Amino acid sequence: MSEKKKFYELTPAERLALLVAQEALSPADAGALSGENGLTEEIADHMIENVAGRFALPLGIAQHFVVNGQKVLVPMVIEEPSVVAAASNAAKIVAAAGGFRAEADDPRMIGQLQLVDVPDMDAAEQAILSRKAAILETVSDLDPILKKLGGGPLDLQVRVFPQTPVGPMLILHLILDVRDAMGANAINTALEKITPEIEQLSGGQARLRILSNLADQRLARASCRIAPDLLAMKIWSGAEVLQRILEAAAFAEVDPYRAVTHNKGIMNGIDAVVLATGNDWRAVEAGAHAWAARSGVVRPLSHWTRDAEGYLCGEIELPLAVGTVGGATRVHPGAQAALKLMQVTSSKQLVQNLASVGLAQNLAALRALSTEGIQKGHMMLHARQVAMAAGATGAQVEAVAAQMVREGAVRVDHAKEILKQ
Ligand code: MEV
Repeated sequence: MSEKKKFYELTPAERLALLVAQEALSPADAGALSGENGLTEEIADHMIENVAGRFALPLGIAQHFVVNGQKVLVPMVIEEPSVVAAASNAAKIVAAAGGFRAEADDPRMIGQLQLVDVPDMDAAEQAILSRKAAILETVSDLDPILKKLGGGPLDLQVRVFPQTPVGPMLILHLILDVRDAMGANAINTALEKITPEIEQLSGGQARLRILSNLADQRLARASCRIAPDLLAMKIWSGAEVLQRILEAAAFAEVDPYRAVTHNKGIMNGIDAVVLATGNDWRAVEAGAHAWAARSGVVRPLSHWTRDAEGYLCGEIELPLAVGTVGGATRVHPGAQAALKLMQVTSSKQLVQNLASVGLAQNLAALRALSTEGIQKGHMMLHARQVAMAAGATGAQVEAVAAQMVREGAVRVDHAKEILKQ
């Protein structure tokens, strides 16, 4: 099957069958991805409240990713056409250039404890910090598995806000190594546990106890280095494309209006994998955009340069608070299958893949936007959705879409007209 046809030319069932034949997926996991043995109503009912149904989205598998020398199949859940194809195209270029290099910080999360009505800020700070080791010890075995795996509390930091609209405030940061979890539960539980002692030491009253989504102690990085020839496209030489990519990247460096869109493209890829693995994509989004704006101005999450040998060098760095255990990741059969497909066994490995996907997505966008534009590629995929919205099914979808693109009129009313004919 794979010798005759490319992966993208197969039907969804054939793609899964191929992955099972290649032992990239077990038959049960293939069933979880197809939806056959996926999220049941019963599991869904335990996941959130007032469940009335389940809502499916397409899951595509991006090809050609090589991260730290390992081939990775990348599951992506997304409603937007072109994202999976773009990621695969860029990953193919990068694979020919040796693949992505990626690394990640230890999975350190920040928890915040807000204290109000503190009588003496300096005395409170001193009292808390002098008991730091003992306080950390009280939460060191809240989660025995976390402890066994080498995680647990690392630090306490005091931040004082002398002036807020409601008076002074002391904010305590608890830093916790959450290993392979996203970490929200571990952090929030630990914060609640230390609250009575912190109140007593500070003389203040505790209010909020919650993790911070600005996970800037849990950064992931990816990079790639590409020979110009690999970037060549149609009428553009590799060197020309490289120059255009640098111009596109420079635009994002200087203009926040562009930087936000540049970063949105990066998050197209990252969010799709975060969603496929059952992780909290709102947490990832919140952290990424805040990190991008940490200087007070939104800057691009990725940077592109030309090195002394004329190669294109790309790098990305962003906070990625995701886990491979706990939450929906554990209970959603599709998320489990997605993690297995990626052969990911730790949160560090997962974020290295995520950073690489983000960089690939950005490379694909900059290369397309700075040359032929994205509308051409988008249009056929968009036309298929329009055709379906107009009621086309089966082979009609492709035929109606192709005719609309040929005629330069991709609209539902036109699709209906074609269908009628
Ligand atoms: C569209 O979803 C994403 C892009 O706008 C990203 C970009 O402009 O870099 C194409």
